[in-house]
Amino acid sequence: MMETSPEYSQKRSGAYFTPGDVSAALVAWVCRKRSDRLIDPSCGDGQFLAFHANSVGIEQNPISAHRAIERAPGALVHEGDFFTWAIETRERFECAAGNPPFIRYQTFSGELRRRALDFCFNLGAHFSGLTSSWAPFIVATAGLLKRGGRMAFVVPAEIGHAPYAAPLLDYLVESFSTVQIVAIRKKLFPTLSEDCWLLYADGFGGKANAIDLTVVDNFVPERAPPRPTMRVDLEEWRTVWNRRLRPYLLPASIRSLYAAALADPHTHRLSDFATVGIGYVSGDNDFFHLKPSDAKRLHIPSAFLQPSLRKGRAMPDKKITKATVDGWKRNDDPILLLRLERDQEIPVSVKNYLNSSAGHEARQGYKCRNRAPWYAVPDVQIPDFMMSYMAGRNVNLVRNAAGISCTNSVHSVQLRNRRLASKLLPQWSSPFVKLSCELEGHALGGGMLKLEPREAGRVVFPSIATIQKSNDDELEDAIGSLQRWRHYAD
Ligand SMILES: C[S@@+](CC[C@H](N)C(=O)[O-])C[C@H]1O[C@@H](n2cnc3c(N)ncnc32)[C@H](O)[C@@H]1O
Repeated sequence: MMETSPEYSQKRSGAYFTPGDVSAALVAWVCRKRSDRLIDPSCGDGQFLAFHANSVGIEQNPISAHRAIERAPGALVHEGDFFTWAIETRERFECAAGNPPFIRYQTFSGELRRRALDFCFNLGAHFSGLTSSWAPFIVATAGLLKRGGRMAFVVPAEIGHAPYAAPLLDYLVESFSTVQIVAIRKKLFPTLSEDCWLLYADGFGGKANAIDLTVVDNFVPERAPPRPTMRVDLEEWRTVWNRRLRPYLLPASIRSLYAAALADPHTHRLSDFATVGIGYVSGDNDFFHLKPSDAKRLHIPSAFLQPSLRKGRAMPDKKITKATVDGWKRNDDPILLLRLERDQEIPVSVKNYLNSSAGHEARQGYKCRNRAPWYAVPDVQIPDFMMSYMAGRNVNLVRNAAGISCTNSVHSVQLRNRRLASKLLPQWSSPFVKLSCELEGHALGGGMLKLEPREAGRVVFPSIATIQKSNDDELEDAIGSLQRWRHYAD
């Protein structure tokens, strides 16, 4: 299954093949008659094509394409890039099924991405450059359907929260009369860290007035899509939930409580009183962070040394105090950032360090090469608070009472309105705010919750009226449920 050529490496080309019961079910959902012509835009070794003779597959990996030809002799398999083929073909299909490659934007780049995004733009789906490959694959495939056509795909669970999934869902509801997402808690691909859900869309050429959602623990293969467990109102999805589907994994009572909190003028988001950003990027942490013993040996004056939190792991739970920093110094931890400004006079001892072999190596690094002077680390701030941006159970918000700086291993939080902050921040470890971190952040593989600065700024501090209406046990259940969806607790 895994090809060794780097161009077609499993990760670079998103080549993770689908279990047979899943592909058989998706083909059955969309193929109604033997004469229906099916397309799989990234057919791999023919896992979907094998279930329907009248089919066409496209596959860029020549070895997989040849396997598909052997495995699905009735099918027509084109070897090459799907988008190049899609732009040229005049063929139209009754149905489509498959598992598009999941290649993140850093790798899904260059001419291939430009062609894919332009093609989608012409179909009415406006993706940004931060889009992973699977979403344009789905839009471009939809554009090859006949009126009334349908499609079923394996999709990453990111469809429930990623910003780039929103233009995909917007396109789908504008282009199909039925759009259904099947959210599956247990992993479809047990060996992948990424969770997968299923997408079904029917009635190409129509418009949907809701997204049908089916929330299940396990995938049960059936010949028709499972019955929706809920209809997601598009207006609410857009205005209350920032075009995310993940909140719909929660009970309606919790969603109404959260929605009511958002509508209350006394509710605040973190961004109302603080700015969340990333810590500095030194370009070479080992060179720029000295141990106290090395700083002494090299005679670096203390005016050029800024104590700093180098690794998120070292962050205490509540507060960073002088005693915390003294402890790091006693351990001789490398926490002293060499802090130099542009146009600053530099003492000989520091010059010697910059000109050491370690300094010559550090200046070759990407970040150092691209800034002038290479040794001046930009954006060194002394934040009021630091926030862990990857969390297992709780997102830590820690007061910086020691006036230290931090690398980008944590987020830096600068207060803009201290009065509001002192009123609201004590709520940080309340169940409502913890739930808000789960809802505004997103699940990463391996059970972790991640909060990007933009997501952290959206964390909600409810009004007193909301707190009085809420039930802590219910909120804790909701938090536990979202933790189970991200596999922190199973
Ligand atoms: C997730 S795998 C799915 C394969 C197969 N449909 C299945 O589910 O078993 C994605 C496939 O997309 C192929 N692929 C990646 N980029 C492609 C492109 N631009 N055009 C066509 N196929 C591509 C990969 O080589 C890989 O076989």
